This record gives sequence, structure tokens and C-alpha cells, in this order.
Amino acid sequence: MPTIRLLLVFFAGACLGAVVMYAAPGSGPASRDAAPLSRPAPADSRIAVELSAGDRQHIRQQMIGYLEGMYLLSDAVRYGDVETIKTVSADLGAPDPVSSEILKHAPDGFRQISKAMRSDFASLGLAAEPGKAAELEDTFGSILLKCSSCHGSYRADTP
Ligand code: HEC
Repeated sequence: MPTIRLLLVFFAGACLGAVVMYAAPGSGPASRDAAPLSRPAPADSRIAVELSAGDRQHIRQQMIGYLEGMYLLSDAVRYGDVETIKTVSADLGAPDPVSSEILKHAPDGFRQISKAMRSDFASLGLAAEPGKAAELEDTFGSILLKCSSCHGSYRADTP
């Protein structure tokens, strides 16, 4: 009798193990190499902006500069470091000839968001004075909104 009970416990354990293995997403043998079936990737409905590989490389480099610059600016706004705010926003807001050429062929909305972001960087530089914390924070937020509205509406594509 104890042997049968032991066998039953072992059998129940093995069944449970098998159920868990198949139920856990990605761990069953059949799905080990496949994408999770339950959640298909949502279609990307953003507007495609056709850019050459070189132009995309240029944009990506600029974007990394924006990301680093926003990090520096967030600290500078927080601690009221007006010199850093002036230098970084002048740097990020300056138009560069390659980007201007790329923008000429870009969709209107894309160009407008880009223009509005540069103008925000100019406003941030102008507002960089002691005692203007609230205005600086607002403008910083307004720049972030430009990052997210462009990224939310457009994606780069190479023909
Ligand atoms: C007018 C549109 C536009 C605005 C505004 C914009 N971006 Fe981008 N960003 C792009 C596009 C297009 C790409 C994709 C480039 C590609 O993959 O070829 C991109 C890519 C990036 C990347 C990925 C870079 C990489 O290495 O792949 C980062 C990070 C980024 N943007 C940060 C920012 C930040 C931060 C801001 C705001 C300060 C910003 N972007 C504003 C259009 C924009």
C-alpha cells in the first residue's frame, strides 16, 4: 500500500510538471524558438518617412545628441544651472545643413514638429535666468512633447 501511494504521488508530480511546462509561455518544447502566440505584435500605423541609409545614420547620431542633451538639461533645470542650459540649448537648437536638406523632402508634419522643437530650444536658452524655474520646466516639458509626438506619428523607412 505505501508503495502504491508513493507511485501515485510521483505520477501526480510528473503530470503537474508537464502541465506547468506547457502552460508557461515560451518554456514548452514547441514554443521554445517561436514568438509568443498569444500576443501578436501590433501593426505599426505610424507614417513612414522614406530616408536613405546615410540620412538615417545622420538622424540617429543627432538623436543620440538630443537624448544626452535632454539628460544634461534636466539636471541643469533642476539645479538652476543657467550656463549649462544656455550652452546645451544653443547646441541642440542650432540648425545643421544636412538635417535641413533632409527636412526639405520630409512630410510637412515631420518638418513642423522639428521646427517647433528647435524654436523651443531657443526659448529655453532665452529663459535661462535665475528665478525662472517654472518657465524653464514648462519649456523643457514642451520639448519632450515634441520628441514623443514625432516618434508617435512617424517612423523612418528605407525604400
Ligand atoms: C521631427 C521628428 C523627430 C523629433 C522631433 C525627434 N525625433 Fe528622435 N528620431 C526620429 C526618427 C525618424 C528616428 C529614427 C531614425 C532611424 O531609425 O533611422 C529617431 C530616433 C531616435 C532615437 C534612436 C536613435 C538610435 O540610435 O537608433 C532616439 C534615442 C531619439 N530619436 C531621441 C529623441 C529625443 C530625445 C528627441 C527630443 C529631444 C527626439 N528624438 C525628437 C525623429 C524625431
